[in-house]
Amino acid sequence: MMNVVVFISGRGSNLTALLDDQQGYNIKHVISNNTEAGGLKIAHERGITNTVINWSDKVRAESFAAEIINQESAELVILAGFMRILSSNFTDTFNQKIINIHPSLLPDYPGLNTHQRVIDDQRGIHGASVHYVDGQLDHGQVISQTKIKVNTNDTATSLANQLIQKEHKLLTFTVGLIAEHKIYWEKNCLIYHNQPLLEPILLK
Ligand code: GRF
Repeated sequence: MMNVVVFISGRGSNLTALLDDQQGYNIKHVISNNTEAGGLKIAHERGITNTVINWSDKVRAESFAAEIINQESAELVILAGFMRILSSNFTDTFNQKIINIHPSLLPDYPGLNTHQRVIDDQRGIHGASVHYVDGQLDHGQVISQTKIKVNTNDTATSLANQLIQKEHKLLTFTVGLIAEHKIYWEKNCLIYHNQPLLEPILLK
């Protein structure tokens, strides 16, 4: 069983999907920078240890978070709607151990408001990515992606609603692969099916 810590800031629907899944991994602790996060209530109801960390002092916040990760012997940190940017000091400490889910087909559209930007650019395809986290925002090796079609009558809300369902599947699928050691790092090379992963795994 792989011990996992999940970072959240909001509603926590990805956290719920992970809690329902937990195949080969154990969610030991949920960390939120936001006392109002809906995901905290979910963690509490499910009996998962949870901690709110005030992120206004980033250095202190990150060192507290690091302590928790170490105490829980976590081998994987999942950012599931976590809306703070981690320092490269932190991401280096947990190099190749932090993943994030982002609602775009990275490297396109890092940052916020991805759905609206996809519509503004009249893109025909949108999607979500799970990637390893490095010192840059929504950057680092992409592990897996899922795609949706954008129709002319789509809005940012309709895209978000369609995509979130697929995000849940993508995240649980990807964490499962890591927990089962089907994906692993060999030095700086991500291995999948005993070969370097050259492009993201596409989940239909
Ligand atoms: C998801 O769309 C995630 O990709 C983005 O924030 C949203 C979080 O939703 N970064 P939830 O809190 O998991 O419901």
